[in-house]
Amino acid sequence: MTDAVLPGGFDTISDLRERAEKLLSPEVWAYVEGAAGEEFTVQDNHASFHRWRLRPRALAGIRAVDLRTTLLGASVASPVFVSPTAYQGLVHPAAEVGTARGAGSSGVLAMFSTLSTRSLEEIASATPSGPRWFQLYLQREFRVTRGLVERAEKAGYSALVLTVDAPVLGPRDRQTRDGVAIRSPVPIGNGSEVLSPARAPELRSGLYEFPADASFTWEILAQLREVTRLPLVVKGILTAEDARRAVDGGARAVVVSNHGGRQLDGAMTGLEALPEVAAAVGGRAEVYMDGGVRRGSDVLIALALGARGVGIGRPVLWALAVGGEAGVSRLLSLLNTELAVSMMLAGRRSIAEVDSSLLWPHPDPDKVPSLRNF
Ligand SMILES: Cc1cc2nc3c(=O)[nH]c(=O)nc-3n(C[C@H](O)[C@H](O)[C@H](O)COP(=O)(O)O)c2cc1C
Repeated sequence: MTDAVLPGGFDTISDLRERAEKLLSPEVWAYVEGAAGEEFTVQDNHASFHRWRLRPRALAGIRAVDLRTTLLGASVASPVFVSPTAYQGLVHPAAEVGTARGAGSSGVLAMFSTLSTRSLEEIASATPSGPRWFQLYLQREFRVTRGLVERAEKAGYSALVLTVDAPVLGPRDRQTRDGVAIRSPVPIGNGSEVLSPARAPELRSGLYEFPADASFTWEILAQLREVTRLPLVVKGILTAEDARRAVDGGARAVVVSNHGGRQLDGAMTGLEALPEVAAAVGGRAEVYMDGGVRRGSDVLIALALGARGVGIGRPVLWALAVGGEAGVSRLLSLLNTELAVSMMLAGRRSIAEVDSSLLWPHPDPDKVPSLRNF
């Protein structure tokens, strides 16, 4: 079967976004696309990429590009990974199982949210060989957190991704304004003990993807390390200071991320924070980033700034909505093809050859128009 006849076939990632918007109800679209406050940060996530220019090298004699790398020792087909997103069942009945299969058949790492609509065991059995990591939201009772961690370890997830940028809910103006009570209850695959704002009727928009608890400190890392042998990844870091704390606390990797602009409006973007984090901990832990990545050239810029892995959130939900499992593999194939072509055009044969000599910072970034609409 060629890509052209895959169900849910689409030719570009911007087509994909348009098709997803047409398919999904306005309230589910507001959930997927919405971000915090006036959505400055989410716009900046995209715009950040336009502040860098690439310095391509010509006549490099490259006939094929090797995108393979490793993420915490797991071999992957490309540095692109699937960031965790909650409630995937809202966009397609295959939910996280579709994402797991689409990513698994592409050899791409996928992270799955505590707030998945399917259980973590069901997701695991959809792609026994993964690679697959479990994203943890801390629960109010450590007993429940520990239960999730133990289940994830038993089900064969190979790392624990602790999200730390959600002590409270970011104000989601768009969701509130659109009055988006999602009518049917959102199933929480990991069980009724897992806190889910989707079950909180007092929230008018009814659908946020984390159970807020602001009482945790960095000590939680040691507590988690006592109950699991899984490597710990800390997601939601935007400063060198926090990256150091995470790594001092035993994190083997950090994800530089502002949660897709859904938490603190006005926060730095992942791309902006990446150089300081990479400089602070790059030698001691792996550094990944996400936020606003939509093209192969975006991935290339993030790699050149020090990321070893580069995540995508919303595009996976668009792809799942449009084509289920096949949509997710189609998206990953488009993005990886674009990355390979960008590398050939830039004169870089492998991920190891991508470094900061590829980049030129625009001297007047405020004058860079952001034309992107996806
Ligand atoms: C609808 C939606 C749900 C999300 N749910 C989670 C979640 O459950 N856990 C988490 O750590 N991050 C969550 N995120 C943040 C993503 O993991 C990721 O950081 C972000 O989407 C990356 O930005 P992008 O959408 O521009 O690619 C969510 C993002 C979206 C858009």
